[in-house]
Amino acid sequence: MQHTEDTNPTSDNTYIYACASSELEEGDLIECEAGSDRIVVGRGEDNVYAVEAICTHEHFELVEGALDGNCLICPLHFACFDIRDGSVLEGPAEKPLKSYEAIEADGSVWVSYEGGD
Ligand code: FES
Repeated sequence: MQHTEDTNPTSDNTYIYACASSELEEGDLIECEAGSDRIVVGRGEDNVYAVEAICTHEHFELVEGALDGNCLICPLHFACFDIRDGSVLEGPAEKPLKSYEAIEADGSVWVSYEGGD
């Protein structure tokens, strides 16, 4: 079965639809909204991952950056975050990004989100 925005792989609706798996090739980034939060989803070297969408250095859009392997690079001052867990790999950012669980199910990418409105 192909999931759509109206279906959900979990019975308790804790996953937000991000995109179709086919829309996210290795190195691609997309942004989705979950409640009042913005989340960037990317396909790293071996899986899909999700972190908060705004750089912790000076509030810039990470979806405008690049994903090199598992390194999410902010385009403004080139901080590098590990998209697998949001940790800082290279400054100038010092604070890690919030990380979310991302999964693929039946052709779609989903992000675990329990802080919704
Ligand atoms: S705003 Fe992202 S590194 Fe400066």
